[in-house]
Amino acid sequence: MHIAIIAGGPSEERTISLASAKLITDHIDPSKYSYRLLLMENRKFVDQETGVALDLNDFSLTTPKGKENFDFAFLMIHGRPAENGKLQGYLDLMEIPHNTASVLTSAVTFNKDFCKTYLRSFDVPMAQSVPVRKNDEISQNDFNHLGWPLFVKPNNNGSSVAVTKVQKWDDLDAALKKIWEVDTEALVEEFVEGVEYSASIMKQGKEYIRFPITEIRPTKEFFDYEAKYHGASEEITPARLSARSTRDCLDLSEKIFRLLDCDGICRFDYILRNDTFYFLEVNTIPGMGPTSMVPQQVVAKGWTISDFIDKLITSRLP
Ligand code: DAL
Ligand code: MG
Repeated sequence: MHIAIIAGGPSEERTISLASAKLITDHIDPSKYSYRLLLMENRKFVDQETGVALDLNDFSLTTPKGKENFDFAFLMIHGRPAENGKLQGYLDLMEIPHNTASVLTSAVTFNKDFCKTYLRSFDVPMAQSVPVRKNDEISQNDFNHLGWPLFVKPNNNGSSVAVTKVQKWDDLDAALKKIWEVDTEALVEEFVEGVEYSASIMKQGKEYIRFPITEIRPTKEFFDYEAKYHGASEEITPARLSARSTRDCLDLSEKIFRLLDCDGICRFDYILRNDTFYFLEVNTIPGMGPTSMVPQQVVAKGWTISDFIDKLITSRLP
């Protein structure tokens, strides 16, 4: 079976995507799969071995050795345009199976405000939030009910890029300016004080597989980009939670996975406060780099990374 591993892309999470793709190329079982690593550069998908670009008319690659077709696309781009449904739409048109969620699920989950609005009607606990668009007129009264400090996040981005913890109204403008460098929508969120946990669920046919939870202890004030990728945090898998809290967190994660009709492997991030897990977000293409949580959880479950990749592919084949 011939696999197109697709990474890179224009988003702020490009570097993480390259690290995630390396885990796949390092561990994909060569006795079962051949692959090409295609990096998205501008609007092209360039094969790393030959420098040839994918023919987007039929998702094929013509190298000096001849034309190659692919049986499966393994998307490892975080953020735009893979985690938001756009590449999934293209792959559907080409009738190429892939490892991630559907167009609809990807689009909804990548928009934090849409996702939260949908999940709120199913009583998923979460921080209150106020969406702000780039040219909106805002006043302090719009946010006072959230209390201070607040978190200011891009509505459509990952890896805590441009996220700021804002202590007072006077500092909100600067935090929003940071958002407008990467997004046209912001989400201003109530600060929920507690410890962060990440739980992953994977769909295999009719089964929903649960992984050991990760507990995140940033050495900085919160789990920002530095903490995530430059070692300024300690991640403990399995998390030091009681059996009951572990079950609560995994039950909630499976509930959200089903409500959103997720697929493949998805990671759910929470803050635990007073025995309640407050939903932060879902990652439909979670990070797979050396400091990322999913590979740690897979190993903690007793699986090999090769088996995990194999399951992600075979469960999605027609
Ligand atoms: N958005 C990054 C890659 C993650 O959630 O792991
Ligand atoms: Mg994320």
